[in-house]
Amino acid sequence: MRLRNVKGASEIIENCDYIIKNYKELKGNYKKIFNNNNPIHIEIGMGKGNFIIGMAQKYPDINFIGIEKYDSVIVRAIEKLDIEIPNLKLIKMDALDIEEVFDKEIDTIYLNFSDPWPKNRHEHRRLTSDAFLKRYDGVFKKDKKIIMKTDNRKLFEYSIMSLTNYGYKIKEISLDMYNDDIKDNVQTEYEKKFHDKGMPIYKIEVYK
Ligand SMILES: C[S@@+](CC[C@H](N)C(=O)[O-])C[C@H]1O[C@@H](n2cnc3c(N)ncnc32)[C@H](O)[C@@H]1O
Repeated sequence: MRLRNVKGASEIIENCDYIIKNYKELKGNYKKIFNNNNPIHIEIGMGKGNFIIGMAQKYPDINFIGIEKYDSVIVRAIEKLDIEIPNLKLIKMDALDIEEVFDKEIDTIYLNFSDPWPKNRHEHRRLTSDAFLKRYDGVFKKDKKIIMKTDNRKLFEYSIMSLTNYGYKIKEISLDMYNDDIKDNVQTEYEKKFHDKGMPIYKIEVYK
């Protein structure tokens, strides 16, 4: 998702207290910005933020960090943040650099409606490709957990293969989340769009 340039986006981002600016300097010390030892969950490609904001409000004893690479998208999330949520922070960065940002401090990674990159030659850009799974290894604490939702059947099938080949075990899987009565769901913007059209939503939770 890349929205048209939003006027003044970089200024809005610069002035927003939810945004971590010195994110590379905090590597290994993220609990300091939250002032507690609670688990840290991140969403890569948070888009306009519905999920990460909703999760932070629903689970105050977990710290959440939303990651998004485009200014024009992250400002849409910032616009929703006229409330105080102490367990939420955002980082504007490309997940390609994730190993330079976190060190053995993340408990769970959420991948929601990630870009499918359908062409074979773009496989390395998929957030569940080997290239990214390798990057995630060092950011996790000892136990690794990835939770993914998508409308894209091909990306889902690809991700199951990629994750299990990489050593992840499946804890929960659904080929139609809304008919499988999966509880405690927080909807993302894309999820709402696809679910409202009657499309099935796929979900997988894996651990290692
Ligand atoms: C299809 S949108 C889904 C947004 C949101 N998760 C949702 O479900 O509504 C994918 C988002 O991931 C972001 N994204 C894709 N690759 C990324 C990367 N390597 N690092 C950070 N963000 C990324 C895109 O900019 C886009 O906003």
